Amino acid sequence: MSGHTLPCCKIGPSILCADLSCLADECRKMIHSGADYLHLDVMDGNFVPNLTFGHPVVKCLRPKMPDIYFDMHMMVQNPEKWVESMADAGANQYTFHVEACEDIPALCRKIQESGMRVGVGLKPGTPVETILPYSDLFDVVLIMTVEPGFGGQSFMEDMMSKVQYLRTNFPYLDIEVDGGVGPNNIDVVAEAGANMIVSGTAITGASDPSQVIALLRNSVENAIQKSQLER
Ligand code: DX5
Ligand code: ZN
Repeated sequence: MSGHTLPCCKIGPSILCADLSCLADECRKMIHSGADYLHLDVMDGNFVPNLTFGHPVVKCLRPKMPDIYFDMHMMVQNPEKWVESMADAGANQYTFHVEACEDIPALCRKIQESGMRVGVGLKPGTPVETILPYSDLFDVVLIMTVEPGFGGQSFMEDMMSKVQYLRTNFPYLDIEVDGGVGPNNIDVVAEAGANMIVSGTAITGASDPSQVIALLRNSVENAIQKSQLER
């Protein structure tokens, strides 16, 4: 389902560790700091041992920022259950976890028919081979670089082999990374071939988020340019 244009760099802050009592302000701050999209972490206390928010919150947020791309990271059991509600709330991308899904083709189809882009997430222990039979059905693969559930964990560099494998075999695919990503490791992430960069505490905890976003972007854009010259 991924297109035939080479993927470009997109930086998507995760607002998980921001001040959720002023969610819209925190989101606006990210956009004004140069974010390309917002990565919104939905946790159900079941698929992961933590709880955040669901579609009612997304629905309230949408009118406050009508043009911003919302990437819903659905860390939930039974991800098929929330597709319509998230589409109705204004989500643009529905990223479910393959570990929580019984019928991958049916769920991908449902998400697509609801008008959202299809994202499939892999926990660190899940091999990339799990999703290969369905590669025509999704737009984005999310490679987790921490165990999902909490912000502020340490980046797992050994996940980069999954990113490299996907980039080599699917040059047009959007490859997203999430977990512990920041200025200290963006170069390895970029060189491995990821183009959608989720970063939580490294951005929201910075005194100048725009500086961090610019740094992340610079690294990814350089790596993309380098790989295009080598093609
Ligand atoms: C973890 C979430 C991440 C997290 C990212 O389960 O999916 O999106 O908030 O935050 P950092 O960058 O702090 O790991
Ligand atoms: Zn996430």
